[in-house]
Amino acid sequence: MKQGTEGGTAGMNILGIETSCDETAAAVVADGSDVRSSLISSQVKIHAAYGGVVPELAAREHLKAIDVMAKAALSEAGMELRDIHGIAVTSEPGLVPALLVGVSYAKGLSLATGLPLVGVNHVLAHVYGSFLGNTSQLRDPQRYPILALAVSGGHTLLLLVQADGRARVVGRTLDDAAGEAFDKAAKILDLGYPGGPIVDRLAKNGDPKAVAFPRGLMPRPGCGVAPENILNFSFSGIKTALLYRVQGRTLSDQELADTLASYQESVVDVLVSKTLLAAEEYGAQTVVLCGGVACNSRLRDVMAAAAARERRTVVIAPPKFCTDNAAMIAGLGFHELRAGRAAGLDFSIGARLPEDLGTVPFAPQYADSWE
Ligand code: KG4
Ligand code: ZN
Repeated sequence: MKQGTEGGTAGMNILGIETSCDETAAAVVADGSDVRSSLISSQVKIHAAYGGVVPELAAREHLKAIDVMAKAALSEAGMELRDIHGIAVTSEPGLVPALLVGVSYAKGLSLATGLPLVGVNHVLAHVYGSFLGNTSQLRDPQRYPILALAVSGGHTLLLLVQADGRARVVGRTLDDAAGEAFDKAAKILDLGYPGGPIVDRLAKNGDPKAVAFPRGLMPRPGCGVAPENILNFSFSGIKTALLYRVQGRTLSDQELADTLASYQESVVDVLVSKTLLAAEEYGAQTVVLCGGVACNSRLRDVMAAAAARERRTVVIAPPKFCTDNAAMIAGLGFHELRAGRAAGLDFSIGARLPEDLGTVPFAPQYADSWE
């Protein structure tokens, strides 16, 4: 299963497949950074009726879309399967029924073509995706340690990546993800789904100081936080606070904007504060913001300003590489294959993210395999 990983990198094209949540995505990336195509079919309209992603529905939609998307990604890249040197597919973490579709498709394709295959960690791919187009930064040991905040509808994680490639989770949410906090706020206020972009837009006209929403697991006078939770998150309290505040009331447009701006400010404040706390604790040189919530305009601004104040380099991907996509999967897959980590057809999927993420193959100590 190693063919295609040998013979130099000139145009080592990887087909990436992503089906961990509600986006069916396929992409072709050359040499880990040159995005030849990146296509996303969103199921958002289907899940909107439920106010969140329904795993079985997601799987059915992936099944319908996956082959069309993979072929379209090849066609948009101006390639055929014979131009591809390897296949990378998201294997963890994610919704089990959804992951199974992408992984089964990728295994079938690998079996039929003999192309090497690798299962890729979705969250590490988000981190890698922040550097797409500028991946040479990852070869520079001075950029490490990297502290990444991965925030989406399913995750709120602080990840540490060291120059030797070791990666681990140093903080995570104990309940809702930050994206869920936005989605549930929009659901409570009957604003539509997904809530994040709607809250972002409406909050622009509001006063972020109008309402004092709780800031979960943040120390405040007279109320400390258990040491083990200093870098963890909790967003269930703010959601409940919003519910109590608006229940049975009709808000004017300005009240709505003020409420959302304040809500958003609380989420952003907690995310940025804890990221910087972790960056300090681990001496991070680079702070990365990734995942769907990294599209949030206020979060981007506050994180960029705060990291710059502390003289840390901040890397925030353009929005198209923040939300789920397959270019990040193909990009990380390139390095996995170059590091000789091609999988057999018997690899499994994982719903959850372990604390210890092993070693990432894009770290400086693997620089030889980039060549
Ligand atoms: O990474 P992603 O596309 O999918 C996964 O959940 O894995 O992230 C989707 C999440 C949703 O919760 C959505 O509301 C949130 O990202 N989101 C935003 C914004 N754009 C997307 N949240 C806040 N502000 C935004 N502009
Ligand atoms: Zn994601």
